Amino acid sequence: MSRTFLLVGATPPPLTSRRAWKALAEHHRVIGALHLRQLFADDARRGERLNAEAAGWYLDYSKNRINDETLRLLLALGDSSGLRERIDAMFRGDPVNTTEQRAALHTALRAPAGTQLRVAGIDVIAEVQTVLGRMAAFADALRGGQWLGYTGKRIRNIVNIGIGGSDLGPAMAYKALRHYSQRELHFRFVSNLDATALVEATRGLDAAETLFIVCSKTFTTLETLTNGHAARTWCVAQLGDERAVARHFAAVSTNAEGVARFGIAPAQMFGFWDWVGGRYSVDSAIGLSLMIAIGPEQFRAMLAGFHAMDTHFHSAPFGRNLPVLLGLLAVWYTNFFNAQTQAVLPYDQYLQRLPAYLQQLTMESNGKQVTLAGMRVNYATSPIVWGEAGTNGQHSFYQLLHQGTALVPCDFIGFCQGLHPQALEGSQSDDPHNLLMANFFAQTEALAFGKTAAQVRAEGTADKLVPHRVLEGNRPSNTLLAQQLTPGALGALVALYEHSVFTQGVIWNIDSFDQWGVELGKALANQTAAELASVHAPALEHDSSTNTLMRRYQRLRQE
Ligand code: F6P
Repeated sequence: MSRTFLLVGATPPPLTSRRAWKALAEHHRVIGALHLRQLFADDARRGERLNAEAAGWYLDYSKNRINDETLRLLLALGDSSGLRERIDAMFRGDPVNTTEQRAALHTALRAPAGTQLRVAGIDVIAEVQTVLGRMAAFADALRGGQWLGYTGKRIRNIVNIGIGGSDLGPAMAYKALRHYSQRELHFRFVSNLDATALVEATRGLDAAETLFIVCSKTFTTLETLTNGHAARTWCVAQLGDERAVARHFAAVSTNAEGVARFGIAPAQMFGFWDWVGGRYSVDSAIGLSLMIAIGPEQFRAMLAGFHAMDTHFHSAPFGRNLPVLLGLLAVWYTNFFNAQTQAVLPYDQYLQRLPAYLQQLTMESNGKQVTLAGMRVNYATSPIVWGEAGTNGQHSFYQLLHQGTALVPCDFIGFCQGLHPQALEGSQSDDPHNLLMANFFAQTEALAFGKTAAQVRAEGTADKLVPHRVLEGNRPSNTLLAQQLTPGALGALVALYEHSVFTQGVIWNIDSFDQWGVELGKALANQTAAELASVHAPALEHDSSTNTLMRRYQRLRQE
């Protein structure tokens, strides 16, 4: 199949008219009626067979509503979508983001130093390494206390200002790797346009000891520029001199002009490239605050983890390829079981922001309604991703997972070794990690196998309560297990989801790298802001609902 065909030319045969799709629909009639209890009873070695391993992650996918035939058909669907060619095209730097005519080369951000990838005559990996080197020098100077603020004090507080990928990536990864961070430095993340975010993040801080990192790919984003300017004013007011900005602000962006207009010198600007999507940018200079927290060495260890998963995705046979398997399973539940959501359940408090991070990664990438050729899709695309760290979720929404009417495929993510063998030094309690992981394993088992009416009765339950206490089971889950939450494990995990999302996008024949859907709201907000700021109560020409709401807002605001 030619590259032109795959990227911009005639669309592949419509998804729902392909043989593999129809066969899956037919097959679903059989599998949909089978219980996981049956599937496990029929194959005593199912749990030993249906797993795969890469980059330190073990995936058990045996608790899914599939059999070998399902897998064969899903893999055929991947082949019929040109998955292999599309993966190659992405890694090569072809403009797989067709609506913006851009490459999606986040994999180059973690390619080892010394390797080469030329795109439009430029060695992109050499450029990446140069920026990494500058970041490392800056991070080391901050960590070592050589970088001093304007009044000569050491920097102790780092405030990252950004939104979307320019916040979620560094904030999620900082929280995830906090165990490895330099504790004398304090990190705060500001994203929301609500002034509360910045006010609370700077409360009690001494500007003389504070560095702001303004992160924005475009350097035009309303939230980030508003917060950035407010932070600048706060800093200059405290330190009494405009020249303080040079010691207290750094920027990460692709827009050098925008950064210069803001007043941040090129020496404090760390660049990246239009081929890095915002939601794929945590491993670019957008991760600067993370690098300052954990140090350049650990940051590089994280990049190595990303790269290990990239290599696996690029080269492993699809039947043993973790991202491909996860992606195909997501398609299976979304399109054939009509599951609308997917839960991500990390059993690690440090991964508390992972669900929010994966929401942007998945839903901004695949929340699309037209194919690459601009035709309306006649099948569902991205699932709604949500989740919470275990065991917290067990005491809120797991009830619905176990007994609700919606089918919610779950990803359980856990580690064999905790980072804290004791809850607190000297505490005598049982190994807290064992307790956590006992819950982790128990939940996947309960979801899959449930509890029958006979089992409930055998416990002596009164007849009228039996239906209430039955758990149907047959609720699918993936289990992802690594040895320990290290920078490398985190990198590999993020890359796993990036490539799973890409796999899904290829099957759905959509552009996983644009996000036009966010533009209308931004444009309307600009118009509305001008109206709200006007002193002359302008004639409002919105719909009757919006007009009424705005008038009410203006009236109550002035009372
Ligand atoms: O509006 C959506 C979005 O463009 C995201 O894709 C991006 O991560 C976020 O805004 C922030 O954009 P920027 O880094 O350009 O400020």
